[in-house]
Amino acid sequence: MLTVSDLDLFYGDAQALDGVTLEVAAGGTTAIVGANGAGKTSLIRSIAGILKPARGSIRFKGRDIAGLPSHVVCDLGIGQVAEGRQIFPTLSVRENLEMGAVIPRARAAAKQTFDRALDLFPRLRERLDQAAGTLSGGEQQMLAIGRCLMGKPELIMFDEPSLGLSPALVQELFRIIRRLAEDGMTIILVEQNVAASLRLADRAYVLENGRVVLSGSGEALLADPAVKQAYLGL
Ligand SMILES: Nc1ncnc2c1ncn2[C@@H]1O[C@H](COP(=O)(O)OP(=O)(O)O)[C@@H](O)[C@H]1O
Ligand SMILES: [Mg+2]
Repeated sequence: MLTVSDLDLFYGDAQALDGVTLEVAAGGTTAIVGANGAGKTSLIRSIAGILKPARGSIRFKGRDIAGLPSHVVCDLGIGQVAEGRQIFPTLSVRENLEMGAVIPRARAAAKQTFDRALDLFPRLRERLDQAAGTLSGGEQQMLAIGRCLMGKPELIMFDEPSLGLSPALVQELFRIIRRLAEDGMTIILVEQNVAASLRLADRAYVLENGRVVLSGSGEALLADPAVKQAYLGL
């Protein structure tokens, strides 16, 4: 569904991605693992059209999307749940969800996706008219996911979705990601919770200093001695 080839990205003179190549299969979950500063967010933001790569291609369903503006990428079916959630705190829960459906591909079905998002997150239904900024951290993360779903994505990229959540909410979050995957959503998952993300992943890539240094099935990477030592604390 998505093929990234030889992607280079710079911030000024500093290179953040160096020849990154990876493949994301339709309907699968792909984990991206790496230390702070490895380039995970830069990769996601490049795919999302927020950052412009210097070189390389990003093909989504056969079309090169590298350098396209983010609203166009979104409208092609790539959604993201950004690091730090980025909901609109002064808008209500309902308004935040509705914002997710402003792209053309999502407008016609907005009523159905709204109901579906609330079925997935019943707590949001109880808080529809509350300002989003008054929600708990966990509820804000659910809202961010709900808003992303309102855009009718085929591929969702999650950037550190469990950051700052309690262990119980992290469990809940992983349950939801698993359920989306079971429903056929294609998922890219960046998680500090490396073991949990590798368990969910059909395929995983390890990034170091902007380069892919290792890839394989989630299971294979879970068993890999270098991964165990560097990311699993074993
Ligand atoms: N806006 C920015 N300006 C300059 N450098 C940046 C910026 N954002 C990230 N970087 C640098 O790019 C590299 C990759 O960062 P990032 O993609 O955020 O990594 P990760 O998400 O894996 O922690 C790091 O060296 C980081 O300092
Ligand atoms: Mg990051």
